[in-house]
Amino acid sequence: MRSEMKEYAQKNESLSSPFLQNNSLYSSAVEGFSKLLKTEKIEYLVEKFFAGEQAIEDLLRGFWHQDHKVQKVIDEFSENTLSNFYFPFGVVPNFILNNKNYCVPMVIEESSVVAACSRSAKFWSTRGGFKAQVIESLKVGQVHFYWHGEAKKLQDFFKQNKNSLMQHVAPLTENMQKRGGGLVDLELRDKSDLDPGYFQLFGRFETCDAMGANFINTVLESLADEWKDLVAASEVFAQEEKEVCIIMSILSNYTPECLVRVWVECPVADLNDPTLGMDAELFAQKLIRAVKIAKMDTYRATTHNKGIFNGIDAVVLATGNDFRAVEACGHTYAAREGSYAGLSDASVQDGIFKFWLEIPIAVGTVGGLTSLHPMAKFSLDLLRRPCANELMQIIASVGLAQNFGALRSLVTTGIQKGHMKMHLMNILNHLGANEVEREKAKVYFAGKTISFKSVRDYLAKIRMYQ
Ligand code: MEV
Repeated sequence: MRSEMKEYAQKNESLSSPFLQNNSLYSSAVEGFSKLLKTEKIEYLVEKFFAGEQAIEDLLRGFWHQDHKVQKVIDEFSENTLSNFYFPFGVVPNFILNNKNYCVPMVIEESSVVAACSRSAKFWSTRGGFKAQVIESLKVGQVHFYWHGEAKKLQDFFKQNKNSLMQHVAPLTENMQKRGGGLVDLELRDKSDLDPGYFQLFGRFETCDAMGANFINTVLESLADEWKDLVAASEVFAQEEKEVCIIMSILSNYTPECLVRVWVECPVADLNDPTLGMDAELFAQKLIRAVKIAKMDTYRATTHNKGIFNGIDAVVLATGNDFRAVEACGHTYAAREGSYAGLSDASVQDGIFKFWLEIPIAVGTVGGLTSLHPMAKFSLDLLRRPCANELMQIIASVGLAQNFGALRSLVTTGIQKGHMKMHLMNILNHLGANEVEREKAKVYFAGKTISFKSVRDYLAKIRMYQ
């Protein structure tokens, strides 16, 4: 292999650096890395950063999928792929949403998330389950451009040419239109109060079951070209007004009109549960206070929402959707009123406890990774092939379930009891506990306070007598 690499490098002068064997910082710079074969990339890294240690090469190869066709598909999602990075794939069964029973897939590494969600799902399954509805499902895209002249003149020109702009992209939107979507609306937004000459073409899109990023960006780029040409060719503008400087055309991940509402409700008395350690009335009031604190205090709001996204991201990931987009949007939405606030709400009215969440979630169930990634495809099959609107409701409900689970622990037992119980296995793995030791530790720590030190001390003690 090494000789093949040298030969490859000799053929391509720019590749000579990977094979230099000195330790200066400069020598770690590598050119043409992406053109190397996967095995060559691994060898380069092992050689350069791990002194040729075979175990490292074995580690990377050990995480390859056994079916090389599957591995190739996964490799091609990204660049410079060397191996796979495992995350646990788990499920929450008996998740009742809109009177349907779902088994929800979640991809998450944090030990207590799936357990907390399962607990909330179980709690609410006997209290009417989760309810959800999609309020709107519009996505957004913008052409950002600069133009200098009288804004009113540009607005009038836009009004006269809006239809022809929409017509211009009709060949691109035709298929989406057949499915009930397309470019729904186009506005010219004057942003020159923010920066002289700054304007936007602001498009609203319906992308049906697709997340629609490529569709939106393609349409926007075509709109931008046509807009520039229309202005340049128009008689209404003086020579110095004919220049539209397109800065960029891109979808916005902020989709406040792609909104889903999810809620749970029951009579306060029905919240009674022996594990709360307090009566239902006090529990409801404490939970409402906790929600209020997240509305008032940014530090708490961030953690509160992080808990919601523990659930949301896990389902978004499991279904092959873009969790960065969903997170970015959710956090922007959380700050929509000028300061960052908790996303959920709670109330008691006329003896009815209600807990709800309104959140924008732009996801797809066709296209992208949803059918390419075998596990994403499996997740969607497990959810019985939902449309995008149904998936929005599932994802938001899991976010609310997660938030309920976290708040329930926080205002009753505290978070560490459940969290550390789930974390016990991680600590035991970290300390290299064998099967017998793990079983003993599980029994010993049931109901006890768990910390890294307490587990380490316990293992040391039982190991003394082995
Ligand atoms: C931990 O990942 C998430 C929580 O901190 C959320 C919260 O505090 O609401 C438990």
